[in-house]
Amino acid sequence: MSGVPGIDKLLGGGFPSKAVLLLRGPPGSGKTTFCKQFICKGLENREFAIYIVTGEPVSHIKKVLVDYCGGNKEILKNVFFIDCYSWRTPRRELKNEEGVARLHSLLELNELNELVKEGLKKTKLPSRVIIDSISDFLMYGDEKSVFKFLQVFSGTIKTNNSIAMVVLEEGLHNERVVSTLDYVCDGTIEMVLKDGQRRLRVVRMLDTRHPLKWINFSLTEKGLEVKVEEFFA
Ligand SMILES: Nc1ncnc2c1ncn2[C@@H]1O[C@H](COP(=O)(O)OP(=O)(O)OP(=O)(O)O)[C@@H](O)[C@H]1O
Ligand SMILES: [Mg+2]
Repeated sequence: MSGVPGIDKLLGGGFPSKAVLLLRGPPGSGKTTFCKQFICKGLENREFAIYIVTGEPVSHIKKVLVDYCGGNKEILKNVFFIDCYSWRTPRRELKNEEGVARLHSLLELNELNELVKEGLKKTKLPSRVIIDSISDFLMYGDEKSVFKFLQVFSGTIKTNNSIAMVVLEEGLHNERVVSTLDYVCDGTIEMVLKDGQRRLRVVRMLDTRHPLKWINFSLTEKGLEVKVEEFFA
């Protein structure tokens, strides 16, 4: 289950198990909100989560996840954060925190894969993994290293019965990079924000029959709300 009832309906039940999905869209389209909802759905089902974050402090994500899970702070015990954000801060100012590992440079992609493996070893529960966003790694390193990283990452995800969502900021990368990422991943969801309306479509999805049409959605205090009724009407 994706965490968004309308998307599950579109996909005829939900995401495939053991898959790496690409979530792409321009800034502000709703990608990060969807990731948090996706993780919360797993946590509510007593699943484990790994949250690889490049664009905001871990403390902020913790707060939003707890809010989305009805104020239940216990859910954070089942989340392992890989902080790829605070490398900008001088090391002496950073405190060690339970359940949080830090990447000290966005070029350390082998280290990142090792941390994901370590994180998944911590649990026997099914796991959901987020990378928000892969664009930061693409901007700092060379593209080939990022593609290689994703191939290894995808292997780790599948051998550990997990599902991952990888976020790509559209508009920052050339078409070849976007197509390669589509190819490396098992499914793609695309989001847009135009004339004040948010829309999404499932571009492709492993082993799943789905419509290709654009679907309207809005952001509410509960997160994404997809208007599938309009679609099936
Ligand atoms: N509950 C809400 N109701 C209305 N708007 C919201 C709500 N929550 C967030 N937003 C707005 O939606 C925007 C997009 O949300 P989100 O961060 O999920 O998008 P994103 O695609 O990850 O963007 P970015 O590329 O900047 O990371 C936020 O910047 C915020 O202005
Ligand atoms: Mg975002």
